[in-house]
Amino acid sequence: PKVTYHQLAGDPDVLEVPAGTNLMRAAVTNGVRGIVGECGGQAMCATCHVYVREPYLGRLPEIGEDEEEMLECTAAPRDERRSRLGCQVTVGDGLEEIEVDVPETQV
Ligand code: FES
Repeated sequence: PKVTYHQLAGDPDVLEVPAGTNLMRAAVTNGVRGIVGECGGQAMCATCHVYVREPYLGRLPEIGEDEEEMLECTAAPRDERRSRLGCQVTVGDGLEEIEVDVPETQV
């Protein structure tokens, strides 16, 4: 699957990643700026916050309880519709492409 990380400044980072990869892991592995993933994907840090672009919103998994709580703790403002934790969104299995905006800050 293809993942595009739009940055506030400069070119977007476009990756081809294996199915089953989450958006935090893909970013950290490939050195995408602006995604930290401090807790390693446990939905416990909110430093993998992303804003999902509109066309993909309907294809995402539901927000889990832990994710919901952490989305209240993001460094950049939460967007009620578009904010997700990158570690909780996995590509593949019907989600063959996704585009996200990287927030201004994660800390
Ligand atoms: Fe910590 Fe996603 S990596 S919440």
